[in-house]
Amino acid sequence: MAGLVRTAAAARRPLAGAARAQWTVRQQPQQRRALSMAIKQASAVDADGVVRVSFADGHESSFHPVWLKDHNPDTLHPTSLQRQLDSATLDPETPLPDEVSVVDNGARVQVAWAADGERITFDADFLRRHCYDASALAERHERLAKMRTPWASKDLPKEAVTRVTGADLASSDDALRKVLQALVKDGVTIVTDMPSSIDETEAIVRRIGPPRETFYGGMWDTAPKAEGEVNDTAYTKDALHGHTDTSYLLDSPGLQIFNCVAQSDPTTEDGLNHEGEIEGATKLVDGFKVLDVLKNEYPETFEFFATTPLKWHCIEDGVFVKAWARVIEFEPGSTTAIKQFRYNSYDLSPVDYLAPEKVLDYYRHTKIINDLLRDPKYISYMRMNVGEMVIIDNHRVCHGRTAFSGFRNMVGCYIGRDDWLSKLRTLLPAEDNTLINDE
Ligand SMILES: [Fe+2]
Repeated sequence: MAGLVRTAAAARRPLAGAARAQWTVRQQPQQRRALSMAIKQASAVDADGVVRVSFADGHESSFHPVWLKDHNPDTLHPTSLQRQLDSATLDPETPLPDEVSVVDNGARVQVAWAADGERITFDADFLRRHCYDASALAERHERLAKMRTPWASKDLPKEAVTRVTGADLASSDDALRKVLQALVKDGVTIVTDMPSSIDETEAIVRRIGPPRETFYGGMWDTAPKAEGEVNDTAYTKDALHGHTDTSYLLDSPGLQIFNCVAQSDPTTEDGLNHEGEIEGATKLVDGFKVLDVLKNEYPETFEFFATTPLKWHCIEDGVFVKAWARVIEFEPGSTTAIKQFRYNSYDLSPVDYLAPEKVLDYYRHTKIINDLLRDPKYISYMRMNVGEMVIIDNHRVCHGRTAFSGFRNMVGCYIGRDDWLSKLRTLLPAEDNTLINDE
């Protein structure tokens, strides 16, 4: 807001009565644990025009003088923590500070300029967490990657999925954190002992975030519709290949939730349907695992989907949405760290947007990715029982189902990526909360 902008000169004056503000986020009680990252050495380097800081963990970072002025923690609003310093008032050619000193046994560093009298104290943790050299960025992406465990079907059978009870999710932050961390690690989690009504389901899922309203509504169910009323294959008894939902939305929802409220007994003695699969089972495929396989075994296909936006659309009464987006989306600043996997073979638009010489590539690479997504090696079949609710990271894990002939109904909703990641960040210690989707 314009009214909050202060000039650089005004910002140099400490805010009256302002406590020294944390730059990043309001810290939750469990986040107050410091990183305890000490600074070993800090000095201005004339030749490079930067302040170089060596940390106790061996990392060395360089900071431009204008960056240091721009990140003066005393210029934040004391309660909103919003910026009050207008970066446009800063000189990109700000000279090196005249004084750089490590204080408080390495817990802080002070920089000072004689010309304008500005003196800034930075916490070592802050500088280490926000240093911006290429290796620091790569290190953050690596730490984020380590929080995720891409899985093939043998790695994540239903019994191995992290689970909590509905009652615990409704009342315990530990259970909520467990659910959200499982979504980062595996992209899927199960909540057991769930009630069956839409209202009670909504009350529990709201612990994660508000249901995301789309043209399907906020809360919905997947009960098969009568012939002629079907506006999406989800409302049939047919098998569905693994897909991410709403690939046709520019900001497709982050989570997909299915609470199993009706599941007929298998209609065959062996529980297998006419296609030889477990009847009425949810099929899950880890898109990040499939991308690992593509990268290692089909690098040209990986490259195609990382660089070629595809078109998806959905048309129904009063609705015509379309998105032109890449299957593989990287974290900002990275060409390796995956942010999102988007793929739905049912909603692909007519292929009228590729150069003629790329059309055959499209069919070659599409066949490869479809074959992988449908390979039982990567599909975890999870037949949900009544009272079991599966939560899926819709930016990573594909869901589908096997064909069934009885009655099956899932109550569900979407939740936005902003909302579930926000909730998770507030429940994590400080050293991890800036890593989650760190764009
Ligand atoms: Fe779906």
